[in-house]
Amino acid sequence: MNPDKPLGPVVAVSVGKMSVGISEPSAAETVEVGRLCAVPHEDSNSWLIGMIDQIRRTPESSTEGPKVAMMDVTMIGQFISRDKGGGQFKRGTDAYPRLGTACFHLDGEHLLKLLQSVNATFDPQERFELGTFTLDQSARASISGNRFFQRHAAVLGSTGSGKSWTVALLLEKASQLKSANIVLFDLHGEYQPLSDEKTGFSQRLKIAGPGDLKSPGDDVLFLPYWLLNRDDLFSVIADIRQETAYNQASRFARHIFDLKAEWRDENGLDEELASMTMDSPVPFEIDELIERLEQDNYGMVPGARSEKKGPWNGLLTKPLERLRSKVADRRNGFLFQPPDQHLEPDWLQNFASRLLLAGGDHPGIKVIDLSEVPSDLLPIVVATLARIMYQIQFWTVSEDRLPFCLVCDEAHLYLPRQDQADGLQTQALSSFEKIAKEGRKYGVSLLVVSQRPSDVSTTILSQCSNMLTLRLTNNLDQGVVRRLLPDGMQGVYSALPILETGEGLLLGDAVALPTRIRLDAPNCRPISATRDFWLDWTKQSNSEDTIAAAVAAMRRQSRQVN
Ligand SMILES: Nc1ncnc2c1ncn2[C@@H]1O[C@H](COP(=O)(O)OP(=O)(O)OP(=O)(O)O)[C@@H](O)[C@H]1O
Ligand SMILES: [Mg+2]
Repeated sequence: MNPDKPLGPVVAVSVGKMSVGISEPSAAETVEVGRLCAVPHEDSNSWLIGMIDQIRRTPESSTEGPKVAMMDVTMIGQFISRDKGGGQFKRGTDAYPRLGTACFHLDGEHLLKLLQSVNATFDPQERFELGTFTLDQSARASISGNRFFQRHAAVLGSTGSGKSWTVALLLEKASQLKSANIVLFDLHGEYQPLSDEKTGFSQRLKIAGPGDLKSPGDDVLFLPYWLLNRDDLFSVIADIRQETAYNQASRFARHIFDLKAEWRDENGLDEELASMTMDSPVPFEIDELIERLEQDNYGMVPGARSEKKGPWNGLLTKPLERLRSKVADRRNGFLFQPPDQHLEPDWLQNFASRLLLAGGDHPGIKVIDLSEVPSDLLPIVVATLARIMYQIQFWTVSEDRLPFCLVCDEAHLYLPRQDQADGLQTQALSSFEKIAKEGRKYGVSLLVVSQRPSDVSTTILSQCSNMLTLRLTNNLDQGVVRRLLPDGMQGVYSALPILETGEGLLLGDAVALPTRIRLDAPNCRPISATRDFWLDWTKQSNSEDTIAAAVAAMRRQSRQVN
């Protein structure tokens, strides 16, 4: 800011906005959309800070004075400078500039002073650094970790804009805390380096793929079928839906309930499970279910004189066939072929502990590798994990609850907009929408990450109090961000398509100044590099062997050789 060289006077003021007339052609050339400007407030120690939204050339015929351009500005805060240097930034303003007051560019040491004071808005204990301000890269940008995780957040940006790196950075920062509790759904297995034995900081849990069934390692996670709720289970095991196949569904439900009740009684849990329903996460044996259904479908029942066909005879053939093929499909092994221990009473507790324990010997950051889960089952797997964790948190005594965050990478794949969701996705959505609406009270938050915000559930996105938006080139996607955030701030929105890779805008209450941030690169980087096609084609080639190995992996449905 050069006090000798004002841009021009304030010529119009409205709620949260002002217009400034620029008189000098040389000044008009220096202003830029998205940069900051300042107007001294009556109280001489304070400045009203604004962001430039729009610059218009005034028609030559204008009679409003000797201006060459007009500048529209959104007021974003107030800077109270201290005599000894430094100062305090306050978001929002309760004061308005007077007409005729001079407006200045905010740059150089004044800008640096302002940006440094922005960080001080939050208590040092609750904030962490994410990068540097684009406006002045010598100033570090930090955000409030409390506010960012408190009421759901989103990281949005077109493909290759830097979302996965941002997620890795957020996790890396959180991992420095004693017991950060975060579960990341990793759809492509790209976050593996975060669990590297030497340099990593997270625990990797892999949902069992076909190659893990024979001798599963310690990091393999099974999700036994009995954890699924009724609708999910019916859709997965036999493609039956309550509405269209009510009779078949009720027969399945009858047997499942009986089997669960038998397990309950055998294990002496009748008191604990007195109000058990078919939806309760209680084990039963799938083979036993198949046997009972077969008996219904093919067996005979005693009649008046001799044996006769029972009431279910021939009515369950189709769902039974589907059930058998689903159970035998090795890709579904993580559901239907869990190790025998899943029938033991303490299995559920061990399972929940692996997902939820944090602090002490337990790395609180958990990366769940879903790369070998068949894509049609993805919504159910993610939703079931989320539902179980949420329920455990719900039933934890409130003073003992350790908050946790679920990071949903590639959320458009399993949390789509309601009108685009298929059956399984609709069921997954309801679990997540519940967390989005009620999770805050129980210390459960979501971090939704997506390259297609216009395809992600609006209910979930609209509950996000903070949005870290990286480059967004698609109009529809930009529209979503625009709709979810306050009016005005054109200067901020207009930057969305031109942000560089790894540059973002944090909008929400976790940041004092909504401006562009150059995000730091994480130390542990996801395996998501953007390939240099042209260069790679100059130096790399492939071979019969690589293709043969890929064909074998495709047959095995596993990249692992064992
Ligand atoms: N903060 C950063 N600093 C420097 N380079 C970055 C940064 N973030 C991302 N990049 C570069 O961009 C590439 C792609 O980033 P990333 O994998 O995070 O994209 P993405 O938004 O997750 O894409 P997709 O939607 O396809 O998953 C990285 O491999 C890296 O080269
Ligand atoms: Mg990514």
